[in-house]
Amino acid sequence: MALAALKPLHQPQLAPARPMVELRGVRMAFGEFVAVDDVNLTVADGEFLAIVGPTGCGKSTILNAIAGLLKPAMGTVSIDGAPVSGVGGDIGYLFQQDALLPWKTAIENVELGPMFKGVGRTERRADAMAWLAKVGLKGFEDRFPHQLSGGQRKRVQMAQALITGPKVILMDEPFSALDIHTRHLMQNELLRLWQEDRRAVVMITHDLEEAIALGDRVVVLASGPRSRVIDSFPVDLERPRDVAEIKLDARFLELYRNIWASLRGEVEKSYERRA
Ligand SMILES: Nc1ncnc2c1ncn2[C@@H]1O[C@H](COP(=O)(O)OP(=O)(O)O)[C@@H](O)[C@H]1O
Ligand SMILES: [Mg+2]
Repeated sequence: MALAALKPLHQPQLAPARPMVELRGVRMAFGEFVAVDDVNLTVADGEFLAIVGPTGCGKSTILNAIAGLLKPAMGTVSIDGAPVSGVGGDIGYLFQQDALLPWKTAIENVELGPMFKGVGRTERRADAMAWLAKVGLKGFEDRFPHQLSGGQRKRVQMAQALITGPKVILMDEPFSALDIHTRHLMQNELLRLWQEDRRAVVMITHDLEEAIALGDRVVVLASGPRSRVIDSFPVDLERPRDVAEIKLDARFLELYRNIWASLRGEVEKSYERRA
């Protein structure tokens, strides 16, 4: 085939990745209020998808639908081909707020996922030890959350989200409460861990720089109500990436300009509606 012949020979011909998360004609409503409508979205296995949109457009609502926390009023959500029905799927979460149990130590928090999955005490303790080491917290196993810094607590949360090897990782503004330097550090940590074992990621953020620096693709949502997907931009930046460095890359700036051109109007509309 002519097209195939144009591809450089050293590039392996990868099979198209299978769809891991699929939303078809999804409507999310709160009573009469339709937050999002007719959302169609496919996230491939191993793909890092970032979703951006103005505040209040329905980003968290969409994530909660994928998590099975909220039921669509219309349409379907599926993970790895199976319809989502309620919580308990093969999902890892990373949220903005501290989700750690304050009365449990770092290692006990990391052990929760495997424990709920029925992994035995010895094995889950060993797994959790290994994961804490992986996120740079060797020696901090027995600290309680209040004895850890914001960045360290975020590391514990990452270990917690990844230890069970979930099919899908959902993140809702995971780093927005951190100061800029800690945020860069955590973003790089996340990329490093994700690259070791690529899972499908859906990350919600209002920070376009974060979306481009981390994502394989950036999807733009319209301002609400009845928000929907209005654009999808592949991010063709090389990996591994350093999030602080990549923001100086000419291609990064070009992508930023293009995506901002799409997002800007929606952000302005959402301001007008609130004013
Ligand atoms: N439980 C709820 N009850 C009523 N309205 C809600 C509820 N949750 C969210 N909304 C509304 O739905 C819209 C989308 O909210 P959300 O998904 O949290 O936005 P985002 O995460 O993009 O900031 C907003 O207008 C919000 O006020
Ligand atoms: Mg939100």
